[in-house]
Amino acid sequence: MFASLAQTLSAEQAHRAAILGLRVARGLMPSAPTYDNLTTDCGLGRPMPSPIGLAAGFDKDAEAILGSQKLGFGAVEVGSITPKAQPGNATPRVFRLREDQAVINRYGFNSQGADAAVKRLTALNRDDLKVPLGVNLGKNKTSDALPDYRHGLMTLAPLADYVTINLSSPNTPGLRDQQNMSAITALIDGLGDIWPDCPVFVKLAPDLDDQDLQELVRYLSDSPVTGIILGNTTLSRPASLRSVHANETGGLSGAPLFDLALKKLQFVASANAKLPSAKQLTLIGCGGIDSAARALQMIKAGASMVQLYSAIAIHGPGLIRRMNADLSALLKQADAPNIQDMIGIDLA
Ligand code: FNR
Repeated sequence: MFASLAQTLSAEQAHRAAILGLRVARGLMPSAPTYDNLTTDCGLGRPMPSPIGLAAGFDKDAEAILGSQKLGFGAVEVGSITPKAQPGNATPRVFRLREDQAVINRYGFNSQGADAAVKRLTALNRDDLKVPLGVNLGKNKTSDALPDYRHGLMTLAPLADYVTINLSSPNTPGLRDQQNMSAITALIDGLGDIWPDCPVFVKLAPDLDDQDLQELVRYLSDSPVTGIILGNTTLSRPASLRSVHANETGGLSGAPLFDLALKKLQFVASANAKLPSAKQLTLIGCGGIDSAARALQMIKAGASMVQLYSAIAIHGPGLIRRMNADLSALLKQADAPNIQDMIGIDLA
């Protein structure tokens, strides 16, 4: 039903309908089955029933946390949330690339703002929350990064199990420049006096080159940052794309992103593994994951957990339950007692 309805709506209408559906139906939906061998703990403040988390961008305004949890996700990340409310870019700004099982978006951080998110997160019944809740922080289009991330940390970190500093959405002018060494150093230093108690992740672009990634791993491992989410959407366009929307402006996500995301995760994981263990970063793999096999590939490459978004827009919300069942079966086939035994086993 969800899938056929979603096909007749525009991509943005389908997204809105999914959020509303999860809000309304959250009390009626049965919880997803759990599997002992998928139970994991990535240091996000609570144990996780699955290593598959919801990536930022689906629930931008923290409206559907409990419904998303019921889809079977092991962690839910809301946002990106900007300090002030802002409308984002003109519509249309999100496109389904059906033939490619992909999405291109240029939403540009449409956000109801931090105050609205604080209200929702304060009202959230924490007894019902069974998975780590991440809050992904963005910046307003026309303001500077440091004051905006300071605002985000001060207002939203106390309400989160972990926080993500998003430096990699391609649709906010200049945001990706915050990944440059001098900019990120100034940013992390400038947040030092309000650094929260919860884990803090930095979300990077899969378009960074290996030298940049190498320097970032070295710098971040010496900083108070807990880990890296790699990564966001890509500005690249693989030659394989066939959809008429392939050349829309924006970030590409979904199946065609997987090879790039995996390659970059492998690179970062191998740089990270060379560090003394006390300094090692927690890695979250993200980009084009749409099956248990792909989730496992990322984890074997060194990710402690994975996140996804586009695959539920393409395959519907039942996907996560199927992926959890398949992943549990894959572990049994491999004689692995638990998903944690698979982290980094393919590291060169
Ligand atoms: C995103 N993504 C995203 N990321 C982020 O940190 N903040 C955001 O606000 C958004 N918004 C957003 C909107 C839409 C429509 C999409 C498709 C994606 C990026 C997302 O979290 C993820 O990093 C990438 O989409 C790659 O993963 P998937 O979608 O290929 O599983």
